[in-house]
Amino acid sequence: MLENFLNKISVPKFFKKKSASFLGVDLGSSSIKMVQLKQEKGVAVLETYGELSLGPYAGTEIGRATNLTNKQMSGALISLIEEARVNIAECGVSIPLSSSLIFNMEVPQVSPEQLKKIVPIEARRYIPVSISEVMLDWRIIPERDFEEPAGDSDLEDRRSGTRQANQPAENGLKNKRRDKIKIFVVAIHKNELDRYQSIVKNAQLNLNFLEIEIFSTIRSVVQQNAGTVAILDIGSGVAKLYIVEYGIVKDSHLISRGSQDISLAISRTLGITIDKAEEKKREVGLTGAEGEDKDISEIIATNLKYIFSEAEKVLRKYQTEQHKNIDRLIFTGGGSVIKGLPAFASSILKINATVADPFDKIRTPAFLDDILKEIGPEFAVAVGLALRGLEK
Ligand SMILES: Nc1ncnc2c1ncn2[C@@H]1O[C@H](COP(=O)(O)OP(=O)(O)OP(=O)(O)O)[C@@H](O)[C@H]1O
Ligand SMILES: [Mg+2]
Repeated sequence: MLENFLNKISVPKFFKKKSASFLGVDLGSSSIKMVQLKQEKGVAVLETYGELSLGPYAGTEIGRATNLTNKQMSGALISLIEEARVNIAECGVSIPLSSSLIFNMEVPQVSPEQLKKIVPIEARRYIPVSISEVMLDWRIIPERDFEEPAGDSDLEDRRSGTRQANQPAENGLKNKRRDKIKIFVVAIHKNELDRYQSIVKNAQLNLNFLEIEIFSTIRSVVQQNAGTVAILDIGSGVAKLYIVEYGIVKDSHLISRGSQDISLAISRTLGITIDKAEEKKREVGLTGAEGEDKDISEIIATNLKYIFSEAEKVLRKYQTEQHKNIDRLIFTGGGSVIKGLPAFASSILKINATVADPFDKIRTPAFLDDILKEIGPEFAVAVGLALRGLEK
């Protein structure tokens, strides 16, 4: 039944179509997340948001990872657009890092206009297919990284560092002229672009851009001048760990366990259906004190401990090899919505960990504050996409 799997919540308001609005669409493997924002006097305001579980579209349970056809995905998208009362066609869509090729390159120090021309030309050398087959997204690596031939100077920089994250290299160059700048490039194959364009078009939406989901997350949950942070996105089938320095993705790692594994384990151990196990996981979380609830929390804890220990191994290795300190771990993804996570994480992890609150930057109706804080981690990508749309 539709109501069973449609987790939609919309802000009760009469919407008029305005061009200052923008829709962020996160087509996750287990659910679609959507956030519509508008710009009002320089502030991002929430117009509506919603989530739709994809499991039932693939003949499986809520919370499970799926692999839908374009047509099925468009159908799900249309349902969510209607349910959440989205009234804007302009949208941005996220794709996983694994669907792209990323690399750093150096280009001559030129004007921003010339840079737009030079980047695609230089990028040819790094891309195994014709440049006409890819879509490029890129950003200038902040000067602090550029100054780091052996890796250690970055530490010095951060100790004294007051420069802004993502600050274009040009500013630093006023003091000390350089003839090269470093660029972080993302190449997305046009086949991917075509695929998403067709999904979105069939849902009567207008794709403005595709963006790697970690970029959207950085925009919505990482403070502008946060130093080195790690982001752990606990999804359905997998958990994704990223190390981000001043807005640039330095490392990424896939941990092959996600929140659906918890539901499967609960179902197996307690001999209940996966649907029931999914419900119990959400209801009890890590806070079960006795009886069956205690068993459920223990299963959740075991699985999360595995994900944490894999994440910590990667973080430790990075810190040792790069001689850098990771200041914070930020949890995102639906698997991070689990009850009792902050206390559990701080009892297990040696690193300072927080749960993402992407709606924090958005003006929202006060009556939604609690629910948005709770489900926020799941919407980190969709919020980041919508924020980028407003930037234009
Ligand atoms: N309140 C909750 N408590 C516990 N788990 C939850 C809760 N809400 C959602 N989840 C779990 O989060 C998972 C989905 O997370 P998310 O929506 O981030 O994944 P996804 O974006 O679809 O996956 P991916 O990013 O890997 O494509 C599901 O397995 C679901 O069971
Ligand atoms: Mg996701």
